[in-house]
Amino acid sequence: MADFVRIVEVGPRDGLQNEPAMVATADKIELVDRLSATGLRSIEATSFVSPKWVPQLADAAEVMAGIQRRPGVSYPVLVPNEQGYERARAAGADEVAVFTAASEAFNRRNTNASIDESIARFEPVLARARADGVRVRGYVSTVLGCPYQREVPLDDVVRVARRLHELGCYEISLGDTIGVGTPRKARAMLQAVAAEVPMQALAVHFHDTYGQALANVAACIEEGVRVADSAVAGTGGCPYARGASGNVASEDLVYMLHGMGIDTGIDLDALADTGRWLAMRLGRQTGSKVGRALEGA
Ligand code: HMG
Ligand code: MG
Repeated sequence: MADFVRIVEVGPRDGLQNEPAMVATADKIELVDRLSATGLRSIEATSFVSPKWVPQLADAAEVMAGIQRRPGVSYPVLVPNEQGYERARAAGADEVAVFTAASEAFNRRNTNASIDESIARFEPVLARARADGVRVRGYVSTVLGCPYQREVPLDDVVRVARRLHELGCYEISLGDTIGVGTPRKARAMLQAVAAEVPMQALAVHFHDTYGQALANVAACIEEGVRVADSAVAGTGGCPYARGASGNVASEDLVYMLHGMGIDTGIDLDALADTGRWLAMRLGRQTGSKVGRALEGA
């Protein structure tokens, strides 16, 4: 069987949460629907965080009501607490993602809570999700650096990832929120976590602030991870992480994986078209090098 990497497309959530201008709900819905037609199996559709904190995604329920769900595709949504879980469920979500960080300083700014407090907030989410048959993904942010607390000890990354796994998250996404990681550090971080949490339950999530995201994913693929997050057109960033810029572009990631002989199930041309369409809607050029190279090719 061919080697396979599952890509978790986070553009509609991570991508759009950081856009300075408001994106129309209809465009968000069209984005998810276009992505659904590319062969992607996981599309993070939106976020049920506080609309005061992230006004860009205040229309999460409308987005969920408008998208056409394809069989075989999952549409996780971000939730920070029980209130978010209830809103997500009312909107029909059947997979959610909770998030915390390895850095106390960042987590405080992002969720107004310590790491332990944020985990305590989503413990009831996990309990209810289990009862409801809802799958829960977990994020650990700032795994390779924090803009507010200089170093992030590996032990803290491992401890938080292990906790999320113990709590029942089926997959833990390790996030280099501000894109400061480099391949050897990324690999060492993954190795340390994988010593405590099975590699099959891990994913990587790289931002490209310093142009290292693709190299970091490649290093982690070589280390054994088989799930990677990315955002079409290279959109993304966290409004509460100073200096954070776009995610690794999905088109660039798919091109690299296919070139490595790894299957993704994704139609690269359809994905690149979607990336250029989104960039046009956002009023700029696509952040994907592959998307630009394929234009008119
Ligand atoms: P808080 O202000 O401390 O919360 O925010 P609170 O419980 O005191 O509630 C304050 C108000 O918010 C209340 O309303 C609540 O009802 C409301 P009021 O009484 O003032 O009218 N509220 C909500 N409303 C709707 N949905 C909710 C909700 N919760 C409370 N779910 C909170 C705490 C966690 C809610 C807030 O800090 C928050 O929403 N933070 C989210 C920030 C965020 O979304 N950041 C980006 C996502 S993380 C990321 O991008 C990293 C990642 O990509 C991985 C990586 O790159 O590393 C995942
Ligand atoms: Mg992110």
